[in-house]
Amino acid sequence: MASNVRTTFLCIVASIIICAVVYYHHLRHIPLPPSPAILSVSKPHATKNYAIHENLTIISKPLSPNNYTISTTAVLLPNWEVLVIFSPETSPPNLDGHYFCLFETKLVSPARFSGVIPSPDRVTFTCSIPATARRRTPLKQPVLIKSPENPPEIESSKMLPLLRWSYLVYDSLSTEDDVVLFVKGINTRRGFNREPNEFNCVFSDGVRTAVTSSMQEVFRCKRPSITNVNSSVTVSLEIVVENRILPSVAYYTPTQRKLDSRGEKSLLCASTMVYNVAKFLREWVLYHSKIGVQKFLLYDNGSDDVLGKVVDELVKEGFDITTYFWVWPKTQEGGFSHSTIYAKDACTWMMYVDVDEFVNSPSWHNNELQPSKSLLQSLTLSNSSKVGQLSINCLEFGPSGQKIHPEMGVTQGYNCRRRNENRHKSIVLLDAVNDSLFNVIHHFNLKSGYKSRKINYKELVVNHYKYQAWPEFKAKFRRRVSAYVVDWTDKVNPNSNDRAPGVGYLPVEPQRWPQKFCEVYDNKLKDLVLKWFGMKSDSGYQMAWQR
Ligand SMILES: *[C@@H]1O[C@H](CO)[C@@H](O)[C@H](O)[C@H]1NC(C)=O
Ligand SMILES: *[C@@H]1O[C@H](CO)[C@@H](O)[C@H](O)[C@H]1NC(C)=O
Ligand SMILES: *[C@@H]1O[C@H](CO)[C@@H](O)[C@H](O)[C@H]1NC(C)=O
Ligand SMILES: *[C@@H]1O[C@H](CO)[C@@H](O)[C@H](O)[C@H]1NC(C)=O
Ligand SMILES: *[C@@H]1O[C@H](CO)[C@@H](O)[C@H](O)[C@H]1NC(C)=O
Ligand SMILES: *[C@@H]1O[C@H](CO)[C@@H](O)[C@H](O)[C@H]1NC(C)=O
Repeated sequence: MASNVRTTFLCIVASIIICAVVYYHHLRHIPLPPSPAILSVSKPHATKNYAIHENLTIISKPLSPNNYTISTTAVLLPNWEVLVIFSPETSPPNLDGHYFCLFETKLVSPARFSGVIPSPDRVTFTCSIPATARRRTPLKQPVLIKSPENPPEIESSKMLPLLRWSYLVYDSLSTEDDVVLFVKGINTRRGFNREPNEFNCVFSDGVRTAVTSSMQEVFRCKRPSITNVNSSVTVSLEIVVENRILPSVAYYTPTQRKLDSRGEKSLLCASTMVYNVAKFLREWVLYHSKIGVQKFLLYDNGSDDVLGKVVDELVKEGFDITTYFWVWPKTQEGGFSHSTIYAKDACTWMMYVDVDEFVNSPSWHNNELQPSKSLLQSLTLSNSSKVGQLSINCLEFGPSGQKIHPEMGVTQGYNCRRRNENRHKSIVLLDAVNDSLFNVIHHFNLKSGYKSRKINYKELVVNHYKYQAWPEFKAKFRRRVSAYVVDWTDKVNPNSNDRAPGVGYLPVEPQRWPQKFCEVYDNKLKDLVLKWFGMKSDSGYQMAWQR
């Protein structure tokens, strides 16, 4: 009892997170999700080193004159990359500055700004673990420093183990009734889901609530009754029988965080996961806006191109685009599930197509009119029956003789495709999505009473510019955003639809690549788009997205 009093006293002094650590440890003798980590770095004795620590404080808050606290959490990503996440209390560092990760072995590697994880906003950096530090077990979380010279002494025992992306609560959303957790490492993608009653949601102030749904990476639980949270409360998942709590980088926010509806709820939005698509985005947004897409929600898989700049320009021009930083590996389904909750109040229907896919109707092609917002909306979103999901066939275009990215855009550059449709994409009524949020690539389980409708290819198709000029194809397939194959040169899953037939495993240009996948010429969308977006100039045509 006496130690309980002491615990309580400490709780008042320390942050809620420290409190939780002590409390849990005391209560359950089980490890708490080490999130966010709070690490003390003692000041060295030699004064000549002081300046380095001055630099260290730029990204940290001095706790006392003799102590420095760097509050970060680090997660191991694939390929020995580490994601270092600032805790929300830490003031954002100077993003233009140069930072370094200091590892347990005193090895240092440069840190690169990665993005901002939303709600609460947390700045992240990535570092590569130096080769000689990779064999240590357990791997410890690195510390961010400002200068690689004379790194400070850090007691190894004070360094927390590195979290792993594959076993982690990585995001959370609140709805009116419940809390939705996004969790890696419990259920499998398609098959095996553990029972909800094996779990609790556990909040860092000690409250637990029952899990009501467990499907893929999505776990739903009741909201905690106490909502007195002025400070950050982390949330995690407890596996009851194993007496274990998953590591978590997710926070609970009582207020629902959701896509800004900017006034009116849109009838039709589009969402996709992106990685380095800045070059293609303008054409995709301009085209789909013209035919009726009102909002765009992009899950950014850690792009390192000029995505932010292009989005800012488009937003200034009046387009409604939101990016959500989504750096987590192999979370395609998780991202789609996330969007159904996140966008529910801002969008009635959500279209799931990628940035190299263009929805169009063969019936528009004889039409002399300008495009209109109702084109897509009237064709698809009839309110006649309980249709909750529309499924559209894809046509796969080949390199069409192109050797580099066509300047006028993909719709102008690629005009030869494979004969048959392959796969499908969907447009989903967000209110019809089953509470489990279960989906298999763009295809959701619906609530009972709703059905899916397959759209005839004469009504609507997706032009998928899948096999582009070799430099583009190679860049894209090296790091698939949508596939089950992490690296296309891996010999796993050789029959996947995501593979390019005949390409094999080598990242070298196959013979006659420009002529591949060309069975029929199809100029329908090319001609239509030229008519809608082309402006005659001295040197031929200039498309609306060319700058
Ligand atoms: C702090 O870091 C900057 C570079 O980021 C460096 O120019 C400066 O010399 C450092 N200050 C000290 C006192 O080491
Ligand atoms: C640093 O802080 C810890 C507690 O957080 C304390 O035990 C230690 O004495 C402090 N070090 C110095 C040099 O003040
Ligand atoms: C919330 O904030 C208020 C004022 O900042 C403070 O008095 C109160 O103790 C805080 N409550 C909790 C639970 O931290
Ligand atoms: C995001 O990129 C990483 C490569 O850094 C990849 O492993 C991962 O699968 C991608 N995310 C998704 C959702 O596919
Ligand atoms: C939906 O129903 C209303 C009223 O019945 C009708 O006016 C409207 O045109 C319908 N919308 C579509 C897209 O069919
Ligand atoms: C969600 O799907 C499951 C199984 O497919 C079904 O039993 C359940 O009734 C659905 N939920 C709702 C709210 O319709």
